[in-house]
Amino acid sequence: MAIEAGLKLVDQTKIVTAASELARNTVTYGGGGMLLLETVSSGARKGIRLTFEDHGPGIADIELAMKDGYTTGGGLGLGLSGAKRLSNEFEIFSKPGEGTRITITRWR
Ligand SMILES: Nc1ncnc2c1ncn2[C@@H]1O[C@H](COP(=O)(O)OP(=O)(O)OP(=O)(O)O)[C@@H](O)[C@H]1O
Ligand SMILES: [Mg+2]
Repeated sequence: MAIEAGLKLVDQTKIVTAASELARNTVTYGGGGMLLLETVSSGARKGIRLTFEDHGPGIADIELAMKDGYTTGGGLGLGLSGAKRLSNEFEIFSKPGEGTRITITRWR
């Protein structure tokens, strides 16, 4: 889809890396979930948008979870912050007891 949207190789790599990090969080912390893949356009601009959603425990303190090095799972704590840096747009909604939804967009 990244290729079809016209993303150059470096941007394909960025969105795939971000997707891999968010997918792993969805499985590891969210207990599994779903991924919505969309192509988006704004005038002549094209891009891809990915939404990861789970109904796991949610994140109590989003600001803390976004910090480089913060982990509750013994990881590097770089997944969320890295995914944000690798995307043009990053949105996170999370509520304890309800789940987590993260949307990232990468434009051509
Ligand atoms: N979908 C989710 N549901 C609940 N908690 C989450 C979710 N995604 C992330 N978190 C919380 O945010 C923390 C930070 O996530 P992040 O991906 O940045 O680091 P990590 O997964 O711990 O390590 P890694 O660098 O290997 O990704 C996690 O340790 C976890 O506590
Ligand atoms: Mg992670």
